[in-house]
Amino acid sequence: MNQLFKVFVTRRIPDPGTQILTPSCDVTFWESDDAIPREDLLKNVKGVDAILCMLTDKIDREVLERAGPQLQVVSTMSVGYEHIDLQACQERGVSVTNTPNVSTDSVAELTVSLVLLTARRLLEGAYAVKNGEWGKWKPMWLYGVEMKKRTFGIMGLGRIGYGVAKRIKPFGVERIIYHDVQKLSFASDFGGEYVEFEDLVKESDILCICCNMNPQTRHLFNKKTFQKMKTTAIIINTGRGGIINHDDLYEALTSHQIAAAGLDVTEPEPLPMNHPLLTLNNCVILPHMGSNTWESRNRMAEIAAENIISVLNKGRPKGEVLRRIEA
Ligand code: DGY
Repeated sequence: MNQLFKVFVTRRIPDPGTQILTPSCDVTFWESDDAIPREDLLKNVKGVDAILCMLTDKIDREVLERAGPQLQVVSTMSVGYEHIDLQACQERGVSVTNTPNVSTDSVAELTVSLVLLTARRLLEGAYAVKNGEWGKWKPMWLYGVEMKKRTFGIMGLGRIGYGVAKRIKPFGVERIIYHDVQKLSFASDFGGEYVEFEDLVKESDILCICCNMNPQTRHLFNKKTFQKMKTTAIIINTGRGGIINHDDLYEALTSHQIAAAGLDVTEPEPLPMNHPLLTLNNCVILPHMGSNTWESRNRMAEIAAENIISVLNKGRPKGEVLRRIEA
């Protein structure tokens, strides 16, 4: 009888993923909802053919070496893969896969929710009610801004940026402008205008960061960028925390260089409880929950598991980041 492929899963995952893996593989799960400690990760990957990991697991040379030369695939249950050393995987002939497409709607919905939450100061309102600050109706209290007639900027017009644009358009925004590495023809679906980064920053009333993080986008939003933005501008980040320099953001928000920020991603994650951004009313922070829906997480687990089965059976996975080159 053929030996079953060995798979290590670094967390408890939704059932649809488990059901795909367990019938045909010898699977070990890290039975927890919390991130696996580094030492345990290093211990558990020894001798496996596949690792199913999360964006919190750093998969570097050390992990690959501990796993051994039989390792064929690292499958991350996320779209982002900046936690995986692609160079090291390539050198060792290890495939890397991710879960694109299936969380797009969830993240786009959350991004628009965060735009409205921040622009309409909804959290401050909800806290005011809980804290007994809700007196008689006041004509001048907790003012926000409307989307109508605003210039809505999108940094990174990938699937999520596109989903945000389509959802925000019916709110009556005047212009949707975007910046990406190039002009994109599908932007005509919502009348999107390509602009240079400089113009995106200067002209946006609401600026949504929907791009991924790489050496070009790391700390792209910094002191200099904030100085160019409108003092009424609102910045939203559902990409990766490291795209914004958080010290500079704090300064921009406290000195009223910009009006407000809504972040679903921060650097680091979680943000320490004593982080200065947590003291600000004009900064709404969510705990990286863009893809937290049943639909999205079930599909992410399913695709992450299917990707493993595909690679182990010499097929083409759905989310192929790096193809294994057989020696
Ligand atoms: C991803 O998939 O990369 C998200 O950030 C987590 O849902």
